[in-house]
Amino acid sequence: MPSLAPDLPARLALAQAIAREAGAVALDYFNRRDTLVIETKRDLQDVVSVADREVEELIRARILAAYADDGILGEEYGLQSGSSGFTWVVDPIDGTSPFVNGMPNWCISIGLLYSGVPVVGVIFAPCHDEMYAGGLDMGATLNGKKLTLDPSRNIRNAVTGIGANSHVTPATVAKIVEDLLTAGGNFIRNGSGALMLAYVAAGRLVGYYEPYMHAWDCLAGYCLVKEAGGWYHVFPTEGEKLTKGAPVIATAPGAIDDLKAIAGL
Ligand code: IPD
Ligand code: CA
Ligand code: CA
Ligand code: CA
Repeated sequence: MPSLAPDLPARLALAQAIAREAGAVALDYFNRRDTLVIETKRDLQDVVSVADREVEELIRARILAAYADDGILGEEYGLQSGSSGFTWVVDPIDGTSPFVNGMPNWCISIGLLYSGVPVVGVIFAPCHDEMYAGGLDMGATLNGKKLTLDPSRNIRNAVTGIGANSHVTPATVAKIVEDLLTAGGNFIRNGSGALMLAYVAAGRLVGYYEPYMHAWDCLAGYCLVKEAGGWYHVFPTEGEKLTKGAPVIATAPGAIDDLKAIAGL
C-alpha cells in the first residue's frame, strides 16, 4: 500500500536537496542562455538544450547514489527500471520554452511513485526561489508554509490554467478555451505545466487542464495538489503507459465538476 511506503520523509528531504542543487545548475545556464545551442525535438516549438540534459544527469546520479534499487523515468533519458517498488519521475527543466526565451516560469520537477501512486512531489522554481514540497499523508508546503486549498474558489471566481502542445489539434485547444470562457471562467498559460500544477496546490490557480502531458510533467504536481486538499485525474502508471501521454487535470475542490465537464470526463 502506498501509505506504507518506507522511508518517505527521507526521500522527500532528498528530493528537495536535489531540486535545490539542480536548480542552481539550471539557473547558471539560464543566466548565460545566450550561449546555449537550442535544439528542437518534435517541432520548432519543442526545444531542448544541454541544460535539460545536464540537470537530468545530475538528478539521476544523486538519486541512484542514495537509492540504487529505485527506478527513474526522466524526460531526456527515459526509463531505467528498479527493484524497490519506487520509481522517481523527473522533469529536469519544465518550461524549457520560457527558459530559452528568458522568462522565469520554469522549474525542476521531481515526483516519486510507489506501487504506481505519487507519494512525493517536489517542484522548485529557481527564479522565484520557491520550493513546493509534499509527501503522501504528510501535507504540502511552499517554502515551509502549509498549503490548504479554499473550497469556496471555483472556475468563475478564480483563474484556471490551460496547457497545450502539438500532440493535440488547434481545434481541441480552442474548444477547451471556448468552453471555459462560456462557463464564466478565464485561462492562464505560463509555459510550465508543472509550475502551474504547483500554483493549483498554492491556490493561485483553481485548476489546471492539459489534454496530453507526460508523467514527468504532472506526477510531482499531482502529489502537491492532493496533499493541499485538491483532486487529480489519475495518470496511468502500469507498464508502458507510464512513458506515454495522457490527459492531466488537477483542481481545488470547487472546480472538480466544471473542469471534468470541460475535459469530457
Ligand atoms: C512542457 C511544458 C508546457 C506544456 C507541455 C510540456 P517542457 O514541458 O510543461 O507548459 O504545455 O505540454 O511538454 O517540454 O517544458 O518540459
Ligand atoms: Ca521538453
Ligand atoms: Ca515538461
Ligand atoms: Ca522538460
